[in-house]
Amino acid sequence: MDKILIAGGKRLQGEIVISGAKNAALPIIAASLLTGEEVRLLNVPRLNDISTMCRLMERLGAKIISDGERLSIKNKEVASFEASYDVVKTMRASVLVLGPLIARFGEARISLPGGCAIGARPINLHLMALEKMGAEIRVEHGYVVARAGRLKGARIYLDFPTVTGTENLIMAATIADGTTLIENAACEPEVVDLANLLTGMGARIRGAGSDLIVIEGVDSLKGTEYRIMPDRIEAGTYIVASAITGGDLFLRGCPARYLDAVIIKLREAGVDIAEDGGGLRVRRPKKLKSIDIKTMTYPGFPTDMQAQMMALMTVSSGISIITETIFEKRFSHVAELRRLGADIKIEGNSAMVSGVEALSGANVMASDLRASASLVLAGLRAEGETVISRVYHLDRGYERMAEKLTGVGAKIDRVRGSQ
Ligand code: EPU
Repeated sequence: MDKILIAGGKRLQGEIVISGAKNAALPIIAASLLTGEEVRLLNVPRLNDISTMCRLMERLGAKIISDGERLSIKNKEVASFEASYDVVKTMRASVLVLGPLIARFGEARISLPGGCAIGARPINLHLMALEKMGAEIRVEHGYVVARAGRLKGARIYLDFPTVTGTENLIMAATIADGTTLIENAACEPEVVDLANLLTGMGARIRGAGSDLIVIEGVDSLKGTEYRIMPDRIEAGTYIVASAITGGDLFLRGCPARYLDAVIIKLREAGVDIAEDGGGLRVRRPKKLKSIDIKTMTYPGFPTDMQAQMMALMTVSSGISIITETIFEKRFSHVAELRRLGADIKIEGNSAMVSGVEALSGANVMASDLRASASLVLAGLRAEGETVISRVYHLDRGYERMAEKLTGVGAKIDRVRGSQ
């Protein structure tokens, strides 16, 4: 397994180009299953999660041509309706094929995802809603087995505004018979990106981005070409990279309008952030102040930025309370940040971070995608060398992270093959 070696203490300076959004690309690739015509995607990030999704699609029968950031997908013939255990355990977002498969082919067999490093993450709401639309669903041998004739529009209230749940339902409803209302829907920008793609394919969707989404089913969808939105979490991670190293970064293509909560909180912490033409300039704060954060669904502070923000708070002046409300186990980075000298106490779903003068490099282990990112950020700031193992987590969600950081002055190397 590869490791990342960081010689900390370098001030980052220069430009980083933000890639396409992983969490928009994944449902969008799955949505291509809703038509037999070609769907061409632009700005697709080159990530392991995207390769995993493409492998799953190919097993289902998709013909995919990938050329850098472009992807062409044709789902004319479908060979299978199954997302097997080995794929779903690698990537939970595989459940996003459930909605399109059941809507277009009336059949799907999807491995039930187990718990993961950040929480139990059930999919009960996806299933409840599809049942309301007329699907018959059983759980057998660890698989969700779903069958339906043509799905019927329904009025659905989600107990929690689940992101992939909302996406599965929107996809299923586009070619259902009649109108579907999703109440308490997820408002995340990635949901809007999916809805925009689907609209381009001929779907009738209103209200995406709000908590009430209305979808009028149509008979069929057609092919289209679509450019995936930039990744707000990748951008947020590099904003923190600039702040934590006292740097001066220009983040080209940074989707600032989707990062309000993050930008407002970082400004409160003293970080100088300015919108500038095609991106965002983030400069060295005079002094980093501790601030409190509570993760919420969009437009609240994103859980996917909690770990990175905690890394920043470890070297801020004062005490910061960070409360995680979305996932019940998303503090696995805390023990590793402590190895770098951070002072963090956990009480229930809150972490109390007391800023320290300096972090010192150490061996640490990545445990999930965003936890890994927080260790890279802390390593960039720490004195001496930080060695991060299990970096495959980073490859799932950050395109060429080591290369991008090297390009702005970080001393970061990847060593292959060692345990
Ligand atoms: N939940 C249920 N029942 C359900 C679905 C969700 O109880 O049927 C609960 C979950 O257990 C969790 C909460 O609802 O406590 C939120 O989960 P949600 O379903 O919204 O998360 P998700 O759709 O599985 C997506 C992103 C995550 C991101 C979350 C929250 C994708 C592919 N994944 O996951 O991204 O953290 O929304 O914003 O879009 C990441 O990129 O690192 C990542 C984990």
